Amino acid sequence: MTSNDPLLQPYQLKHLTLKNRVMSTSHEPAYSEDGMPKQRYRLYHAEKAKGGMALTMTAGSAIVSRDSPAAFGNLHVYDDRIVPWLAELADACHEHDCKVMIQITHLGRRTGWNKADWLPVLSASPVREPAHRAFPKTIEDWDIERIVADYASAAQRCQAAGLDGIEFESYGHLMDGFWSPATNHRDDEFGGSLDNRLRFTNLVLDAVRASVGEKFVVGIRMVADEDFEKGLSKQEGIEIAGRLANSGKVDFLNIIRGSIESDAALTKVIPVAGMRSSPHLDFAGEVRAATKFPTFHAARISDVATARHAIATGKLDMVGMTRAHIADPHIIKKVMEGREHEIRPCVGATYCLDRIYEGGEALCVHNAATGREAEIPHIIVKTEGPKQKIVVIGAGAGGLEVARVAAERGHKVTVLEASSQAGGQIRLATQNPRRKELIGIIDWRLAELARLGVEIRYDTWAEKDDVLALSPDVVVVATGGLPQNPPLTAGDNLVTSSWDIMAGSVKPAENVLLYDDNGGHQGMGAAELIANAGSKLELVSPERFFAPEMGGMNHVPYMRAFQEKGVTITINTRLRSVRREGNQLVAELASDFADGWRGERRVDQVVVEHGTLPLDDLYLSLKPLSKNVGAVDYERLVSGGDIFPKRNPEGGFVLFRIGDAVASRNIHAAIYDGIRFGLRI
Ligand SMILES: Cc1cc2nc3c(=O)[nH]c(=O)nc-3n(C[C@H](O)[C@H](O)[C@H](O)COP(=O)(O)O)c2cc1C
Ligand code: SF4
Repeated sequence: MTSNDPLLQPYQLKHLTLKNRVMSTSHEPAYSEDGMPKQRYRLYHAEKAKGGMALTMTAGSAIVSRDSPAAFGNLHVYDDRIVPWLAELADACHEHDCKVMIQITHLGRRTGWNKADWLPVLSASPVREPAHRAFPKTIEDWDIERIVADYASAAQRCQAAGLDGIEFESYGHLMDGFWSPATNHRDDEFGGSLDNRLRFTNLVLDAVRASVGEKFVVGIRMVADEDFEKGLSKQEGIEIAGRLANSGKVDFLNIIRGSIESDAALTKVIPVAGMRSSPHLDFAGEVRAATKFPTFHAARISDVATARHAIATGKLDMVGMTRAHIADPHIIKKVMEGREHEIRPCVGATYCLDRIYEGGEALCVHNAATGREAEIPHIIVKTEGPKQKIVVIGAGAGGLEVARVAAERGHKVTVLEASSQAGGQIRLATQNPRRKELIGIIDWRLAELARLGVEIRYDTWAEKDDVLALSPDVVVVATGGLPQNPPLTAGDNLVTSSWDIMAGSVKPAENVLLYDDNGGHQGMGAAELIANAGSKLELVSPERFFAPEMGGMNHVPYMRAFQEKGVTITINTRLRSVRREGNQLVAELASDFADGWRGERRVDQVVVEHGTLPLDDLYLSLKPLSKNVGAVDYERLVSGGDIFPKRNPEGGFVLFRIGDAVASRNIHAAIYDGIRFGLRI
């Protein structure tokens, strides 16, 4: 039966038939090895292909030249060795009728000089990019010649690998650096008039067309409005889009609005949790209307309804749902099978993107299978072993995940939760209204557990005997932790925990000092609530910059709130003690750097964040009664085999603990524990 769902209609792009309207736009997950897209990279894209997507734009900013060193694991498309790897990747996606293209670029000033071959970074003019901090040299004639040739040979490699097309990255990189008045101060034939500013682009287009011919699909992901005073204006941007559309040299436009030269600007291009959904969709629609040319676009179109709207209203030809597919690579399959409600939502946490800028690989905050396809399946199959009775204590993220996975495997699962609601620390985090979407992590799991027939007993404080009464085969302790104070020489009983502030059990006082040496969202969330409540706040951190466990994009909304509310930020400073004086508290401060240095602050409230201590009483009481005495074989957890050593012949059940019940960590760690242990039951 053919569907009339606008999202599922095919789209003809030149000779290519894209089977529906949904794509993943280019993004570098930093899964490359030696700059090559090997097994991990391939499996990651193949999973999206299996999930029904029509087009995957691989790589993020695959680099065409040596003097564009990888900034975040970018593929080396300047190297012939990439051809067979790309070919394998293309074959793996083509098997599922998913078209495969790649984004290629010269990063220009958006990288560092102190990497790879230590070649100088270059740009149209020597204007430094705040995010990467390299001072670029002005590109010279001989640079232009070789880079244009590099684009052409890179495109040829992509064609030789059997890819369906390429796109140029032209926002924040070398190519659009020529377009923007903010970064092009030249007075030669590459500066000044729009014709001149487009000269480099046209040289590249001509050289690429000469190398790949007319038939190969060549598109451009381009900024059409830099949206800041000195940047490329909307008027000029749309003019460029029109000229490119009419040039006969490109086959699609993939529209970007905004600048990416700083983290703060980048969040407007790639909005994070708490920011608007699809902020630039109307703009992309304007470009499509003005150019009447195939138009693609992505920017926080995370749900199927918005994506459908984008296509149905003719704003886009292809809609990018990029992070949405990092969270759930099977979106289209679920839509086609009438299981839209089972789609795991992208909650905008932007853990994925923040990790790559911190030198890690992209991981989804609540889908631990993404990027780990070789070890962890996205679709969990039933166990071939015996069906077991599993008791999970704790309905936080980790507990719900292990319950979900175990139930998918066919086991009978009961969850015991002490409070009246599921969610644990995530529910606490969502007390910051800006981060309320995180509750999707819990709600999706609760819906899955309901579908799988898992019983959750709320308001049940489980003691040893309550667990034993259920005669479990496996007991999972996912009880989380409780907040602990930082080491203080005095005043432990005078401080308030960030949890109390988040939960609303203690109101922010008028004049507050918040000390955070944990470095993640917990302290910052409390600080944002305190600042928004109108308190005078000083944030104190012992680190070189505050909240180092959080990436640059998540930093932005906190910093915005702190500056708007006049929060004082003090770094490189420890909280040593707290004492009461009259009806105020005196916080004594110390330094790791200058031994004798002391400072004092007189405030109404001292709030502290120092992570959690595991709530492990239940685990410790069950340990001697279990078959494995709580032990886990980590070697086998990583490489395969039975992970629960038999240490106690008298034991009645297997016991393990996950998430913060082991040690204070984060949401991804708890969920990763949940699935990797759950798969081994
Ligand atoms: C991990 C990650 C890496 C990215 N790298 C690139 C890149 O190299 N080039 C690019 O054009 N966009 C990159 N993006 C941006 C995405 O293509 C997309 O525009 C963005 O995620 C917004 O779309 P979404 O809300 O559907 O995720 C990246 C995104 C993510 C999450
Ligand atoms: S980490 Fe957050 S933003 Fe990234 S894919 Fe997962 S849910 Fe979406």
